[in-house]
Amino acid sequence: MTVAATEDDATASTRYSHVEIEAGRRLFAGEWKFAGAAATAATLPPMAAMEVAFAGRSNVGKSSLINALTGRRGLARTSNRPGRTQELIFFVGPPDLVLVDLPGYGYAAAAKQKIAAWTALIHGYLRGRASLARVYLLVDARHGLKPADEAILATLGAAAVSHEVVLTKCDQVSAGELEDRSRTIRAEMQRRAAAFPDLIATSSRTGAGVAELRAAIAQLVREHANIR
Ligand code: GTP
Ligand code: MG
Repeated sequence: MTVAATEDDATASTRYSHVEIEAGRRLFAGEWKFAGAAATAATLPPMAAMEVAFAGRSNVGKSSLINALTGRRGLARTSNRPGRTQELIFFVGPPDLVLVDLPGYGYAAAAKQKIAAWTALIHGYLRGRASLARVYLLVDARHGLKPADEAILATLGAAAVSHEVVLTKCDQVSAGELEDRSRTIRAEMQRRAAAFPDLIATSSRTGAGVAELRAAIAQLVREHANIR
């Protein structure tokens, strides 16, 4: 059995009120645009607005989730072949928010030199970006956390960057599997100080969880506006 999740289910989230879900919808209803790409640390764009980054293994669905969030199918390039996104890609929407699509890691078929360069770029960015407010670590609902994710979690923890797991491709697992996977990951994340002990289950294909993730990001934008 697969999870019969729809965008309506996501709207009926228990974690966010209707008001918060609506704030998320409004935040992402505007126009989103490509704002730049960086293949090296030296070419990163200057820090301007608050950044929210999407990290995860190759092919986990990072670019697809950015398209689902922004409602623009072709904004971030996706592919069924791993290793599609090879640079940090920046998207701007409302004045206070930038989304960052990261290259995937754990892609064994790429040239060793390339892997080393991507790894250094991703870890360097995650460690040293003052404007980075939150990292969503995307994890395939079929596979759970993998050793390659542990290195990213270690970097995020050491740099005290706020982060939370987002399960992707939830349309591909049964409700029972989704529950087991969620329980295991929650237990794992509870041990980590900079991590959110909860997670958001999504499917870019059905739209499940997308409204909830928008609400989470809208809440983050509000918190940052209050701090400044
Ligand atoms: P890299 O850029 O290579 O690191 O990959 P990525 O994490 O950006 O993945 P991408 O968004 O390119 O998606 C990879 C593949 O997974 C594509 O074939 C997508 O259509 C598919 N995919 C993404 N999200 C979902 C989902 O929610 N459900 C299903 N069934 N497939 C998905
Ligand atoms: Mg990608």
